Amino acid sequence: MQAPPRKFHEWDAAMKVAVVGTGMFARLTAVPGLALARGAEMSGVFDIDADVARKAANEYGTTCFDSLDALLASKPDLVYLSTPPSSHVALLDAVIAAGRNVLCEKPMCTSAAEVSSALARAEARGLLHAVDHEWRYTSAYRTIRQMVRDGTLGEVRNVSVSVCVNYGVVEGWAPFYANFATLLAESGGVVPQLLSHFCDLFEFMFGGLEASGAALSTMIPHKPRSQTDLTPGFVDAEDSCALTGFLPNGAPAAISATWVAYAPTGVQWTISGSKETVVYRTGGLLNGGKVGLVTAEFTLREVKQLAEYNPEVFGDGGNREYQHGLFAAEIEDIAAALGSGRTRGQFATFADEVAVWRNIECWRASEIRVAASTAA
Ligand SMILES: NC(=O)c1ccc[n+]([C@@H]2O[C@H](COP(=O)([O-])OP(=O)(O)OC[C@H]3O[C@@H](n4cnc5c(N)ncnc54)[C@H](O)[C@@H]3O)[C@@H](O)[C@H]2O)c1
Repeated sequence: MQAPPRKFHEWDAAMKVAVVGTGMFARLTAVPGLALARGAEMSGVFDIDADVARKAANEYGTTCFDSLDALLASKPDLVYLSTPPSSHVALLDAVIAAGRNVLCEKPMCTSAAEVSSALARAEARGLLHAVDHEWRYTSAYRTIRQMVRDGTLGEVRNVSVSVCVNYGVVEGWAPFYANFATLLAESGGVVPQLLSHFCDLFEFMFGGLEASGAALSTMIPHKPRSQTDLTPGFVDAEDSCALTGFLPNGAPAAISATWVAYAPTGVQWTISGSKETVVYRTGGLLNGGKVGLVTAEFTLREVKQLAEYNPEVFGDGGNREYQHGLFAAEIEDIAAALGSGRTRGQFATFADEVAVWRNIECWRASEIRVAASTAA
């Protein structure tokens, strides 16, 4: 007889989450987010760099596993993979073979075929499979999704989003360097690294996006190799782009993005419907801004966002703390699913990521131009 589902959300058992990879994102966002999540607790960490793993385990007061096998043998309810994208395929193989549910960082792999293959294997084992598109829990995006669904906007006729951030020019963020975040072969570049989130949001808010064309450029082709090796390395992935696509109803969509902006303005969405137009501006940040509705009289009125994941709920500690709240909300959603015997929730699945990667591959079929001033 099958064991009754565990009720993670009602506090009688916590979902045990083992963390693989304790680098920048885990340290700054995921682990603090996990600590906030109700019904979940960290059961241990593993990192291929033993010193990094030991330090993290000491800091978090958790078990330090000396191998992936040891971590899997401890039978966590969920394995969270927070390692660079090119390591995900091998790690997913091992996690799925061990019959563990998995939350994988984005970009999930390096191709749609790799994602499809992981999806098939996870489904065959009946496992929960999730991709860390935590922006689905942003109250603004959930509010817009509801406005699309309940007909507030009428028929959506055009969507444009502009992303103007400085991650690639700020020391301390991965895309400042010639590493996985800026190299094509390692799923680097602003499209897989950052816009994969936006692609998933199109899926979440509008039911899909079908990529059509792209202009891709690498405006800063040389970057320091690492924090300790400042000699310039050539980077080949795009840092700026203009992408197009269609919504399922045939409406055109445009995403214009750079992560090497000198003066970042953040994110701005304009969603034009047959009844009203939604504007969402984040004022220099990636999320957490205000949603406004433009009527036919051209007045902009603020829309009250859904309360469930509103920044007010998670405190007012700026974007970083906001990100912790998003990760916590995703973990709680996963815990609620597993606790009631489900493998689906509102989180993005590997199936959603297949759609994301089909789009990435379509856009990436375009040439990537290197900035004329520095090209040989
Ligand atoms: N969801 C988001 O908003 C978001 C934001 C930033 C980064 N990310 C993603 O998070 C992941 C990690 O990025 P990061 O900036 O923390 O990288 P990082 O290089 O700072 O950390 C990666 C860690 O993984 C470890 N590692 C590498 N291969 C491993 C393996 N096979 N087994 C165990 N440990 C291994 C490294 O030693 C390192 O400590 C990437 O996939 C990145 O795209 C997601």
